[in-house]
Amino acid sequence: MKICLKGARIIDPSCQLDQYLDIMVAEGRIAALNVNLPAEGTQLFDLSGKIVVPGFIDLHVHLREPGYTDKETIASGAEAAAAGGVTSLFCMPNTSPPADSAEVVEQIRSEATAAGLVRVFPVGALTRGRLGKEPADFKALYSAGVRAFSDDGSPVEDSGLLYRIFKELSCYDGAVVFSHSEDLSLSRGGVMHEGLISKLLKQPGIPAVAETAAVARDILLAQAAGVRLHLAHISTAASVEWVSWAKEKGLPVTAEVTPHHLFLTDEAVKIDGALAKVNPPLRPETDCRALRRALLDGIIDIIATDHAPHQGSEKELPFRDAPFGITGLETAVPLLLSGLVQKGLLNLSGLIQAFSCRPARLMGLNTGTLRPGAPADLTVLDLEAASFVEPGRFYSKAKHSPFAGWKVCGLPVLTMVGGAVIMKQGVVQNVTGS
Ligand code: NCD
Repeated sequence: MKICLKGARIIDPSCQLDQYLDIMVAEGRIAALNVNLPAEGTQLFDLSGKIVVPGFIDLHVHLREPGYTDKETIASGAEAAAAGGVTSLFCMPNTSPPADSAEVVEQIRSEATAAGLVRVFPVGALTRGRLGKEPADFKALYSAGVRAFSDDGSPVEDSGLLYRIFKELSCYDGAVVFSHSEDLSLSRGGVMHEGLISKLLKQPGIPAVAETAAVARDILLAQAAGVRLHLAHISTAASVEWVSWAKEKGLPVTAEVTPHHLFLTDEAVKIDGALAKVNPPLRPETDCRALRRALLDGIIDIIATDHAPHQGSEKELPFRDAPFGITGLETAVPLLLSGLVQKGLLNLSGLIQAFSCRPARLMGLNTGTLRPGAPADLTVLDLEAASFVEPGRFYSKAKHSPFAGWKVCGLPVLTMVGGAVIMKQGVVQNVTGS
């Protein structure tokens, strides 16, 4: 049955659209966008007062499966995405076994199909077993449809190996390296940002240069090899300067920032302890400000969550022993709407570009747009809806967050993937995969 979405404001920067229009969805695609579309014989949604945008696309998610299903499963992660207004996600290969073969990639895909909610794109490992010793089998991964490659969670330390990998991947059309830029010789043993707060808390620090030095190296190697580079989770003002340098040179380099690096500083560690332990670590306000500025200026092109779920019991360990990682799929959109859009720091169009259009363009997806003919992947936003972050209500298995109790204004209230409604009023719908 056709679906008619009526009365909403439609914002789609991919076609410079910001207008009150009806949307007709047929056979999983956007069939028409116009004023006063006839609703007879359709399933009608009255969306007066709401905003329809292309579905959010998250390039950085840890789904933990195979291997760490106590932290998250593909199904629970897909539910969290649906609840958060995310319609497509890229899942990182630091699983057990790691996603370094076509078999593991196929396993992830078939679990995702069984979950039947959001589109899941497995990221292939850069090195065999994510061990940083030899390149992964790119031919097999690419033939299996993988276009993003990363050892996220760890960097490839050996620059000579990374250069060879970059050169090899530059020969694959559409391949993108998602780099985890960290110099382990500078960061090893550290548990939080090295600065005033780490001194106060007497915790070993991770200096900002551990990231910046690696960002510079990765950009220079990518330039020399001619590969497309996407810098994951950048967190320092100095990294922004390197991204800006790369863009001035016209290099095919993009960069992403997470909501937690935009909204939290290392002060959060004092209050939230291990819940605010994440890699790269939360930085001081000067870095946060530089990241927000860079997002506004388009130097940082992309927002991604780095959703990194861990068990509650693991986060209750002493700070030094607790794992790095913050859940993000269910808090990202409300936090971004409240902390950027409602405050006038970024307009809705800028948010949609960074969290939908540009990720789609980078990865060659036919989504991230509401153009007629495109798959009907969209998110409905209610900017008036106020709420509090309640981790106990997350669909993610990781029911904790440093944002717990934060007041948010602006929520995703409906998520649609391929014409199927997968979330309504915060409730994930029972959709069976095909
Ligand atoms: C990530 C995880 O838990 O997989 N954690 C995180 O803090 N971002 C991996 C990582 O990048 O360290």
